[in-house]
Amino acid sequence: MTRFVFFGGKGGVGKTTMSSAYGLKCADAGLDTLVVSTDPAHSTSDVFDQQFGDDPRAVEGRDGLWAMEIDPDEEVEAHMQEIKRRMNEQVSAAIVNEIDRQIELAHRTPGAYEAALFDRFIEVMRSAAPDGADDYDRVVFDTSPTGGTLRLLSLPEFLGAWIDRLVEKRKRSIDLFEKAAIGDREARRKVETDPLIAHLIERKEKFEFAGRVLREDAAFYLVLNPDELSIRETSRTIEELSGQGLTVDGLVVNKVTPGPDDDEQGRGGQYLRERVATERERIDQIRAEFDQPLVARIESRVSEVKGDLLADVAAELDIPVRADGRPASGTESVEP
Ligand SMILES: Nc1ncnc2c1ncn2[C@@H]1O[C@H](COP(=O)(O)OP(=O)(O)O)[C@@H](O)[C@H]1O
Ligand SMILES: [Mg+2]
Repeated sequence: MTRFVFFGGKGGVGKTTMSSAYGLKCADAGLDTLVVSTDPAHSTSDVFDQQFGDDPRAVEGRDGLWAMEIDPDEEVEAHMQEIKRRMNEQVSAAIVNEIDRQIELAHRTPGAYEAALFDRFIEVMRSAAPDGADDYDRVVFDTSPTGGTLRLLSLPEFLGAWIDRLVEKRKRSIDLFEKAAIGDREARRKVETDPLIAHLIERKEKFEFAGRVLREDAAFYLVLNPDELSIRETSRTIEELSGQGLTVDGLVVNKVTPGPDDDEQGRGGQYLRERVATERERIDQIRAEFDQPLVARIESRVSEVKGDLLADVAAELDIPVRADGRPASGTESVEP
């Protein structure tokens, strides 16, 4: 069974809404489910009218459902402090200040934000993996790795060769007499406990783990709205993911305008009719352009999707919930 499910897409399309709805659907089907949110602006806290934090908390009134919210700013800060701490251990005091300044500059780039968040995702994946500390049947992330973060998945290959060279070099530089006494294997072991190399090996293993889990035990859904910008973003994300051997399992079209009744001839009715026609073209384009199945077409509601509305939306998501790959009962495929 796929343990990790990601909902990607640009800001505001409905990722948090779909993740919460899908999480609810999984929990209702009897799976212990954790929803992981990363968006400080609108998040699971608004959807469930309950405050969540950095650790999983049970969602009140919903059996089998937990939620947590990761604050990206805090993650970047923690990440930066950790790097500084490591540096300070290994570098002379004289250049520590300059290095600190460089690290701070580097952490003001958008890439750092993504990387810190991804690090935290991997932590969550580790603890939710079968041999981890928390045992969830399913973990739903309300954002999907993109761009620079995905490139981190290539890091193990690159780091692997680099670490090997570094280890060889250090091994050679271990005093020849000492090496004669302790032998070649011991020299290698000694080098690998070197803090810098140990750190590199740890990073390598971490991204290896992430790559493996994302390829073997994860599903990706992209949320989009029926507009051109959103379609372009979707096609870019599909390409980025496939560049790392990751396939998108389906598309959710959200915020589709409901059509007016035929006898509504006023300005509002006319506006809606034209709007619906434009969106229909976009949806046709989505079907033609993408290989991925359209797993839901969700209409715009009058108000934010929360409370009872969430269950309605959940029922419209034609995404498998159980191990046999069939959606839970009560859902129907989206009409063509
Ligand atoms: N189908 C819908 N109908 C009405 N409002 C929606 C719908 N889907 C999402 N929204 C609202 O749109 C806003 C953005 O949705 P959200 O799920 O937070 O997007 P994202 O996580 O992609 O930024 C929220 O206020 C949410 O309640
Ligand atoms: Mg969100």
